[in-house]
Amino acid sequence: MLLPHALPLALPLLGLAAAHTGCGGHEIARRNPGGRVIHARQQVDKNNVDPASECTPYTYPPVNAVKSQYPAIWSSATLVPGDDAAATLFASINATLNQRLPNTQPRGTHMGDWTGVNYPPNDPDCWWTWKQCTTPAADTGIAADISTMPEPETWGFGFDDGPNCSHNALYNFLEENNQKATMFFIGSNVMDWPLQAIRAKDDGHQICVHTWSHQYMTSFSNEQAFAELYYTRKAIKDVIGVTPKCWRPPFGDTDNRIRLIASLLNMTTVLWSDDTDDWKVGIGGVTAQDVDNNYAKVINASKAGAYATHGPVVLNHEINNYTMGEMIKQYPNIKAAFKYIVPIATGLNITNPYQETDVTYPTFAQYTGNTAGASSSSSSSPSSSAVGSGSASAAGSASGSASSAAKASASLASKNNSGAGAAPSVSAASLLLGLTAALLI
Ligand SMILES: *[C@@H]1O[C@H](CO)[C@@H](O)[C@H](O)[C@H]1NC(C)=O
Ligand SMILES: *[C@@H]1O[C@H](CO)[C@@H](O)[C@H](O)[C@H]1NC(C)=O
Ligand SMILES: *[C@@H]1O[C@H](CO)[C@@H](O)[C@H](O)[C@H]1NC(C)=O
Ligand SMILES: *[C@@H]1O[C@H](CO)[C@@H](O)[C@H](O)[C@H]1NC(C)=O
Ligand SMILES: *[C@@H]1O[C@H](CO)[C@@H](O)[C@H](O)[C@H]1NC(C)=O
Ligand SMILES: *[C@@H]1O[C@H](CO)[C@@H](O)[C@H](O)[C@H]1NC(C)=O
Ligand SMILES: *[C@@H]1O[C@H](CO)[C@@H](O)[C@H](O)[C@H]1NC(C)=O
Ligand SMILES: [Zn+2]
Repeated sequence: MLLPHALPLALPLLGLAAAHTGCGGHEIARRNPGGRVIHARQQVDKNNVDPASECTPYTYPPVNAVKSQYPAIWSSATLVPGDDAAATLFASINATLNQRLPNTQPRGTHMGDWTGVNYPPNDPDCWWTWKQCTTPAADTGIAADISTMPEPETWGFGFDDGPNCSHNALYNFLEENNQKATMFFIGSNVMDWPLQAIRAKDDGHQICVHTWSHQYMTSFSNEQAFAELYYTRKAIKDVIGVTPKCWRPPFGDTDNRIRLIASLLNMTTVLWSDDTDDWKVGIGGVTAQDVDNNYAKVINASKAGAYATHGPVVLNHEINNYTMGEMIKQYPNIKAAFKYIVPIATGLNITNPYQETDVTYPTFAQYTGNTAGASSSSSSSPSSSAVGSGSASAAGSASGSASSAAKASASLASKNNSGAGAAPSVSAASLLLGLTAALLI
């Protein structure tokens, strides 16, 4: 499933913010197809870094036990018949949407074809795909997206489109470097590769939602958009044991209607300031040298002082051997040019990145070791309701768990269920700076 490259509508897409794909299309409809039965995560060998063997399909009984509660993988999600809890929640969210944003309609196709779409140039819906809007008008009461880091010389670190079956080399590398990241997981991949998803949590990475079927969210009806987010969140809860409070739209494609649905599911929208285009190599003439240059632009900008007051959030992917290897190759360059490389939650001092408040992550100061008197012990554990063996997680092991005071003061999700409260801790000024810097470099 590749993105059509010539956007039919005259969308002034800027090179820096081009859309990305990541659909894993070859695996459509394959879900726990048989093969070896793996009952416990201990049977997955981290030291296996041979992609072909890592990607041997397996059956995981805990996923088989719940899969009838989900849409078919890689299909556009809709409410599953008989799922009363989801239907009730959706009805309430739908009522709020119809009341607060009665005029925002779906547009285009799920594959991102906007032929015939007539969008007002004043961008009433803060549609990211139109002109990379990340700050909804104040009167909407919808929080701004996160697209930069508020800390100077700090690289906001994350990977889209996982979990990938062949990720051991990357995850081992991150582990050896005691480096945590934010993983934006596709629900269909979580169902397909549950043990790989569990590893991310066990390794202490932050998990966010990246939708069920990885299509253009603004094209979906309220119900479908809700289902894309809801069932991915549920899969992450069922398989990994935590309920994320953050999501990233595939291709960046979001608008106020989609943001509001996400916020009513307690999820903050995370975009990016800089795009490596790593997924695109071999497509439309993009070369590995182009991707090296995209990394070098951000790295050079840092060396030139562009990040004296904030940091970029950079888009790259856990989608294939090349994108993961490229990050391993670039990591020393990033480290040399930036003071800190942090997961999104950490850059924002978000110590409770999940709805489960017993799972804590370190503050920025604790993670970077720039703290006096922070506890150095780590404690966090996933909810016991996770399917599977549910061992304790090492989240926050880099430099300690958060204090309860910090826990109380920072939360990624809006505490106000209307979606209006608790804007992420990124000032409009730093957002502007980030976008400006991105445009200049
Ligand atoms: C949700 O709202 C739309 C109008 O935006 C309406 O057509 C639809 O019937 C509603 N669905 C439910 C389940 O309330
Ligand atoms: C959102 O978070 C609040 C506060 O933790 C919780 O009461 C509510 O159930 C959550 N809503 C959803 C849809 O998860
Ligand atoms: C980055 O800086 C290096 C060293 O000055 C230079 O050789 C390279 O061309 C720069 N790359 C980009 C993409 O700006
Ligand atoms: C995972 O990575 C492998 C290459 O290592 C690639 O062939 C495969 O398509 C990827 N799977 C998904 C679902 O992205
Ligand atoms: C890429 O694949 C090769 C084997 O084809 C493997 O040795 C290497 O570890 C992989 N790299 C990553 C980052 O997955
Ligand atoms: C994170 O906490 C530090 C103090 O430890 C503070 O200086 C910084 O402003 C906080 N950042 C945000 C985004 O709240
Ligand atoms: C949530 O925010 C809305 C809009 O700003 C406001 O009207 C409402 O009173 C708030 N609710 C709570 C519980 O704070
Ligand atoms: Zn993606």
